[in-house]
Amino acid sequence: MNLNLEGKTALVLASSKGLGKAAATALAEEGCRLALCARNEIVLKETAAEIQRKNDRPVFYRGVDVKNKSELEAFIHETAEKFGSLDILVTNAGGPPVKSFEESTDDEWYEWYEVTFMSVVRSIHTVLPFMKEQRFGRIINITSISVKAPVERLIFSNALRLAVVGLAKSLANELGPYGVTVNNVAPGYHLTEGLERIVKKKEEAGLARDVIFDEWKQRIPLRKIGMPRDLAGLITFLASEQAGYITGTTVQVDGGLYPGVL
Ligand SMILES: NC(=O)c1ccc[n+]([C@@H]2O[C@H](COP(=O)([O-])OP(=O)(O)OC[C@H]3O[C@@H](n4cnc5c(N)ncnc54)[C@H](OP(=O)(O)O)[C@@H]3O)[C@@H](O)[C@H]2O)c1
Repeated sequence: MNLNLEGKTALVLASSKGLGKAAATALAEEGCRLALCARNEIVLKETAAEIQRKNDRPVFYRGVDVKNKSELEAFIHETAEKFGSLDILVTNAGGPPVKSFEESTDDEWYEWYEVTFMSVVRSIHTVLPFMKEQRFGRIINITSISVKAPVERLIFSNALRLAVVGLAKSLANELGPYGVTVNNVAPGYHLTEGLERIVKKKEEAGLARDVIFDEWKQRIPLRKIGMPRDLAGLITFLASEQAGYITGTTVQVDGGLYPGVL
């Protein structure tokens, strides 16, 4: 299927590693011009060079902390100036720490609200004038399976990501008339450094690595942990013209882990 993404500008937040990098790579393979960001510029520069080398596509990057409003907005404006359009926004950020409710503090709630929710609000606010003028836009938020079923000891993710889902559904209504779609993807377990940090926490609590992975795989009907590219395929499709009649949805990519019917 030709996804008609050739020449589109895709801005992927938090994209030097893991799911963000996989999404950016897949979009570049489909012919998109890319804008990438992350906090560590050394790793980011390597990722940008790797994607550019493999795909021969322009890749723009900036060291940005997505919870920093001015850095985030400046990055988006610079991307629009450089490429002259903003067609696809993939929101993403580092995952909140492993904590139970009783371990969480006020300061952490505010910090993860900024990272998880306000980065989405601010980046959409900033891309919107461009997408509305173009009467075309694709906004895809990377959330988590925690929006369908809470994950043990991921209290910030379980609570704050639901705000992203509510926002996306509301925006689907507001932005539909302008040809802008808004959807969420909800990953289950995918092998990334982010997942490895969760594994490490469990190991520190006394669980063996094999036991952790075996327990996860037993709960996943497909009996395997996902790879980042397994999520990237869906993101690329949702960014395409063919997905133009899909908006306001949340789609899990979890090997069947989520047990509900809908
Ligand atoms: N992997 C999974 O199984 C899974 C499942 C469900 C949900 N998720 C969620 O999906 C998101 C991505 O997960 P991942 O596994 O790909 O994580 P990862 O392997 O840790 O990669 C995170 C990426 O985001 C960047 N980043 C982190 N915090 C940032 C910030 N404040 N500003 C800008 N860039 C930032 C990192 O680079 P720098 O550190 O240099 O900034 C890195 O490029 C997370 O929110 C995670 O909770 C992941």
